[in-house]
Amino acid sequence: MLELVKEQIARFIADLDENIVESLFAKIPEGKMLRSKLILQIAPSKEGIFLASIVEMIHAASLLHDDVIDEADTRRGQASINALFGNKSAIMLGDILYAKAFYELSALDKEIAQIISNAVVQLSLGELLDVEMAKDFNTDKEKYFAMIYKKTASLIEASAVSAAHIANKDKAAFALYGKNLGLAFQIVDDILDITQDETTLGKPAMHDLKEGKTTLPYIYLYERLGEGDRKRLLALFKQELNEEQKDWLQEKFAATNALQEAKETARRLGFEALEVLGSEDEKLKDIMTSLIERTY
Ligand code: IPE
Ligand code: IPE
Ligand code: MG
Ligand code: MG
Ligand code: MG
Repeated sequence: MLELVKEQIARFIADLDENIVESLFAKIPEGKMLRSKLILQIAPSKEGIFLASIVEMIHAASLLHDDVIDEADTRRGQASINALFGNKSAIMLGDILYAKAFYELSALDKEIAQIISNAVVQLSLGELLDVEMAKDFNTDKEKYFAMIYKKTASLIEASAVSAAHIANKDKAAFALYGKNLGLAFQIVDDILDITQDETTLGKPAMHDLKEGKTTLPYIYLYERLGEGDRKRLLALFKQELNEEQKDWLQEKFAATNALQEAKETARRLGFEALEVLGSEDEKLKDIMTSLIERTY
């Protein structure tokens, strides 16, 4: 069914009837399609495929803008659109994908259109908060969770709820599942930034701290360091790190267990979500597990 989602997206792009859009879009490699897998697991139907195609376009748009914001020159294993064609083209291609997604969304149930478009408002607010928070070294976990809920979990939650709406399933249960899945997803993304290399990730590694993103592993690390080491960590904030500094960071992560603890937090969120669903669907359990244990 993922093939059908890809075909639908290709039709949406062809509808726009602009060579420049076709050629820019062709430079965006496929992603993991997690949001589509989730939607199709809950609503394996024609409407589910249509919804998944819209959500993937929205997600792609958010990544186009995100790579401009984060000054990231790789994405999905290749040069990012901003790296290839500049920020201006990346921003406008993002706007075109958002607008086309909303146009197609208007053909669906009003409730779905509202849930998904509201999630994009939340996602954008989350990205804005992320930018604001990157001005200083954030040590406030509440702020971090509120921000990742908006920037990442909101669209995953909205995908699950909309799919439940289509399939006449329990929307409240799927909202909680989607929210926790989304929170866990971003925490794992933040861990992988530290533990993986650029080739494995397909996007820049060890990039968050340099961009001012004090993610959960960094907050846990800060909490566990003594006065002297905290100073040293703060001195690395927003800096281009040399090998020695990177080694020091990894050493401290290992000594404090901060990465394992962040992973435990993601796992806990995952378990909570599965409890709400009960043993209803093994596949939904698999989606949660594979997401938390993923390596890229
Ligand atoms: C990346 O999302 C952005 C985050 C919300 C962390 P994905 O990891 O789902 O990206 P692709 O679509 O698989 O590339
Ligand atoms: C961005 O988070 C999530 C979005 C809503 C686009 P990140 O900035 O951590 O995502 P990556 O690591 O670049 O994929
Ligand atoms: Mg980014
Ligand atoms: Mg970002
Ligand atoms: Mg990231």
